[in-house]
Amino acid sequence: MFKSFRIKLFIVFLITTLFVSGVSIYFVYLIALNSQLIGLKKTVVGIASTTVLMIEPEEFRQIDPDNPVLSESFIKINNLLHDVLINNPDIRFAYTLIGTKDPNICKFVADANYFGRTVMSEEDIKDINYYVHNIPELREKIAFSQPVATKSLYKDKWGVQISGYAPIKDKVGNTLGVVCIDLSAEKIASFQKYVTIWTVVIFILDLIISLILSIIISSKVSLPILKIIEHTKVISEGNFKSKIEIQTKDEIKELADAVNQMIDKLDYMFLDLTKTQSELKLTNLDAINRLALASEYKDDATYQHLNRVTAFSRVIAEAYGLPEEDVSIIELVSPLHDLGKIGIPDNILLKPGRLTDEEYEVIKDHPIIGYNILKESLSPYLKKAAIICLTHHEYFDGTGYPYGTKGEDIHIYGRIVALADVFDALTSKRPYKEPMSLEETVEIIKKKRGIQFDPKVVDAFLSCLDEIKKYKKFYEDNPVKVKREMENEMVDRVVEE
Ligand SMILES: [Fe+2]
Ligand SMILES: [Fe+2]
Repeated sequence: MFKSFRIKLFIVFLITTLFVSGVSIYFVYLIALNSQLIGLKKTVVGIASTTVLMIEPEEFRQIDPDNPVLSESFIKINNLLHDVLINNPDIRFAYTLIGTKDPNICKFVADANYFGRTVMSEEDIKDINYYVHNIPELREKIAFSQPVATKSLYKDKWGVQISGYAPIKDKVGNTLGVVCIDLSAEKIASFQKYVTIWTVVIFILDLIISLILSIIISSKVSLPILKIIEHTKVISEGNFKSKIEIQTKDEIKELADAVNQMIDKLDYMFLDLTKTQSELKLTNLDAINRLALASEYKDDATYQHLNRVTAFSRVIAEAYGLPEEDVSIIELVSPLHDLGKIGIPDNILLKPGRLTDEEYEVIKDHPIIGYNILKESLSPYLKKAAIICLTHHEYFDGTGYPYGTKGEDIHIYGRIVALADVFDALTSKRPYKEPMSLEETVEIIKKKRGIQFDPKVVDAFLSCLDEIKKYKKFYEDNPVKVKREMENEMVDRVVEE
């Protein structure tokens, strides 16, 4: 429901503090209320019990509740109750009751309020029944066996009061009636009101303080954990140099330290992995170079051809706008474009003069031979090299070999290497021919735009002609040195990637 750790913490803390403080406040409230109530109960029961002691049971027995004529006993007991009433201003009513067959009805047999009246009026007679259904102490006859007070304060038309009862018993212990004292409880009622209002105010303050404390504490406790979470996100993005700084000295600090140790180990493992990957790339590169070496082993002039084709292919691929990844792949595997020549017999491959048509047909097998050697390689680089082997003699108009593939059906790697290959072949000295001039070569390439070569690749080639010339000159001036430098540069670049 609540996903945030901070919100969960906030809710748990708030509920706990509110529960603990709420229960405490409630108990203090009850104690405050009951301390005064208990005192008042004792007082009212004491007055009722004392009054009972002043009443002669035999005199009480002589009063006939059904007879409205006032008897001496009635007047005597009424006087006595009146004395009790006027001696304590808090007493509202002092009277005696007897039970009837109906548990809800008791009957008045004496009442201080009748004092001074010699004859009971008809209204008095009507009022002689006292309906006690809402006073359990009388209804259940508890007050007829022992002194007792009402459980709590109650409110009637005369205000808030508490009642105390004490049984009037004869010599053998039979209950004749009950003395009842109604004591005003206005003071304690207003005190209870005061305590209730203040309890509510204190609880509201407690709620506000708990809320503030919950916010502060949940923030303080969750902050280091959120910090750890943030850092783990940074780590998952590959930043193993980031360390978690926690100021506390508790379990969260231990967790942060453990995470930091984990980051160190990950960093170490990542470095190790990077090193292994670099070694793997180097091994790949070495394997490619060795294969290229094998393909040109018989003829060093061809070896120089491979280096130049590699450099030109890269420059043209960049000018063409291929992504850097493709540019690197072309650079890496273009030296293998003539790998298939290892399957061509030496008497044809190394023939110093011009080839016969039959011999040329044999030479034309080298794209498929190279492709077959590499096509099932597990190395993704050699698989790309296979494509270059197969396609570098295809023509854009479909008149090339081995399959006469057309236009953009020829892989872009093949289209680029094809141009680099022809450019180098035309501008290089071969046993059977002198090198063609750059200007002448460029003219031929322009003429074959859209025929032999992809027009877009020709445009790219023309746009980077100056750079191609620079490379060509480098190789001519210092073929061996350039070869080594090129190789080293290529290794560095692959390792960086
Ligand atoms: Fe070739
Ligand atoms: Fe070639």
